[in-house]
Amino acid sequence: MGKDTLTVTDNRTGKSYDIPIENNAVRAPAFGQIKVDAEDPGLTIYDPAFQNTASCKSRITFIDGDRGILLYRGYPIEQLAEQSTFLETAYLLLKGELPNAEHFASWKHNVTMHTIVHESIKDFMDGFRYDAHPMGMLVATVGALSTFYPDAKRISDPESRRIQTHRLIAKMPTIAAFCHRHAIGMPYAYPDNDLSYTGNFLGMMFKMTELKYEPNPVLERALEILFILHADHEQNCSTNAMRSIGSSQVDPFSALAGACAALYGPLHGGANEAVLRMLQEIGSVSHIPAFLERVKKGEGRLMGFGHRIYKNFDPRGKIIKQLAHEVFEVTGRNPLTDVAVELERIALQDEYFMKRKLYPNVDFYTGTIYQAMGFPVDMFPVLFAIPRTAGWLAQWLEMVQDEEQRIARPRQVYLGSPARDYVAMERRPKDA
Ligand code: ACO
Repeated sequence: MGKDTLTVTDNRTGKSYDIPIENNAVRAPAFGQIKVDAEDPGLTIYDPAFQNTASCKSRITFIDGDRGILLYRGYPIEQLAEQSTFLETAYLLLKGELPNAEHFASWKHNVTMHTIVHESIKDFMDGFRYDAHPMGMLVATVGALSTFYPDAKRISDPESRRIQTHRLIAKMPTIAAFCHRHAIGMPYAYPDNDLSYTGNFLGMMFKMTELKYEPNPVLERALEILFILHADHEQNCSTNAMRSIGSSQVDPFSALAGACAALYGPLHGGANEAVLRMLQEIGSVSHIPAFLERVKKGEGRLMGFGHRIYKNFDPRGKIIKQLAHEVFEVTGRNPLTDVAVELERIALQDEYFMKRKLYPNVDFYTGTIYQAMGFPVDMFPVLFAIPRTAGWLAQWLEMVQDEEQRIARPRQVYLGSPARDYVAMERRPKDA
């Protein structure tokens, strides 16, 4: 067995350095000692978009992208999707272990007791234009929550952290549903604490004049599974935002608003909305070849395909494809599914996508399910943000308790102008 070190030789100086390898990683600051002379600030690691840089040690989620494995706290996603509930999975992510019956009952009670939002939040939401995008409303409203809970600033107090966690997990579905009701001009529907987490959310979304909303059990369970699949995904763009913003020691509501904003982008959680719009634009199976030709020429992307980590298949995508059949049994088949299935089939046999290891990701089929369930397309990223709140909070809790973490502050490779003197306006060239 060799030594757990990496020997680096700087060919500029001929000097060699032994850098320790720990957990199959080397510490980037160790490269700072590699200098040409005493004036040299030392080597930095250049890694735009963090393609091979670990920013933390984590015990929450494991992904093996080549083998299509996703584990939450060691439990395979397939088993959780089949046997767990979203609230139990959220507990697992946040606390590290599956709860016993007593702990689960008290967790469920605590989350349920926080589902109502302050009436002023309703007033705040009324201020948005009638056609405001629900994800924009969500980002702003979650940020606004920080002003309602100034105690959330006490991030070193475990009790404060615990309460904010309950508040956020509980209030996200309420705010999300209010965003939708605002857009369609319907009165906000208050939470019904007799219903399950997803049943209550469906009620707040779709309740009309009935005294008691009764969710369809198949759709309620389908949403539960979709929430489990979206609950965490280690250091993705929005989670990195949550950790990075949280590293300034701001309250978790503000950090989570930033994470929601990161999720909104079409390359991340906005992809489910973008997929549906793409499928609508393609319109019919006969238009697929022309569409793919445009993608291959670089005129747009095949949304819902490709992943930074999964280079074989996305295990969540497999579960979702199966789930789609169960949902369509109740709702009727979404006609866009035919376009999606054919698009996937053709793309998977196409040299362009094969060479780049581009496979369907979690978002490729979620949109067709959500649409069949009656969710408007612009609610799709919001549906992602609700369950991901559990993951963001678990990652935030891990970060604030990690003694190695400090304020996130990357380095840069500066390629701009060297120091120069200010030039008065009248002395600047006319064509500058
Ligand atoms: N369609 C067409 N080409 C693609 C796609 C795609 N969906 N994804 C990647 N490529 C191509 C790129 O053009 C690039 O080709 P090149 O080497 O010829 O320049 C190559 O594949 C590598 O792509 P990158 O953008 O470097 O890969 P990266 O790991 O940075 O991006 C990402 C991953 C953002 C997911 C990308 O695959 C993408 O844009 N997919 C579409 C959007 C999407 O579905 N996002 C959801 C991701 S899952 C989630 O966040 C929940």
